[in-house]
Amino acid sequence: MAANLSQFIDIHVHILHGLDDGPKNLDESAAMAKAYVDVGITCLIATPHFIPGTAWAAGRDCITNILQDLNKYLFEKDITLKIFPGMEIAYHQKLMDRLEKGVLQPLGESNIYLLEPSFNDSSCDLLECAREMMASGYGVILAHPERIPSFQETAEPLVDLVGQGLQVQINIGSLLDKFGESSKKLAMYLIDKNSVHFLASDAHSSTSRRPPNQADWQKLIGILGDDLLTRLCVTNPGSLISNI
Ligand SMILES: [Fe+2]
Repeated sequence: MAANLSQFIDIHVHILHGLDDGPKNLDESAAMAKAYVDVGITCLIATPHFIPGTAWAAGRDCITNILQDLNKYLFEKDITLKIFPGMEIAYHQKLMDRLEKGVLQPLGESNIYLLEPSFNDSSCDLLECAREMMASGYGVILAHPERIPSFQETAEPLVDLVGQGLQVQINIGSLLDKFGESSKKLAMYLIDKNSVHFLASDAHSSTSRRPPNQADWQKLIGILGDDLLTRLCVTNPGSLISNI
């Protein structure tokens, strides 16, 4: 069956204003929302960064409040888009502690968390943390490992952990040559190893690092084919949100 952009459910989007390097105000958030609605997309998950010790560390209450403000604003502008709350949680040492205390926002009301690897550090501690989270009954989706130098060096420990239940999200931009040859190469390798579960935009604005449009979608069909694109962008995210 032909893959349809309007059915895409984007599980990794920086659309909430003032929380991170995403939109600065409600108008910029609304412009992003409109870019989704214009191609027929109806729902997504907002995933602001959570990087403790930085200005990008909004808690759950703050995310809820900003999302409420955005929903109200979109209603006034007649933009209809269902937005679930989420968080892109940077790996850090106290992550398990914060998780147990309920500080961290899962994807919707699920027990699944979007985990962001460090661009600079070794990924050993991150993978150990993901293993511990899964052993404690939490679901883990690893955000864009294909962009991370330590995984580009060796992806085997990651592929092993996928065999134990870790889920992987890669960025559309990596497949569309936005993040360099190494990112694309690892993305394709992980796909080949059956180790990718979600494809998401990781969009930050309506212009640069933006939501996908029809031209992007046609390129993705050319790279992945209709069936795989549908699985990564529609079926798997659909199963995820049916549980949240
Ligand atoms: Fe992100």
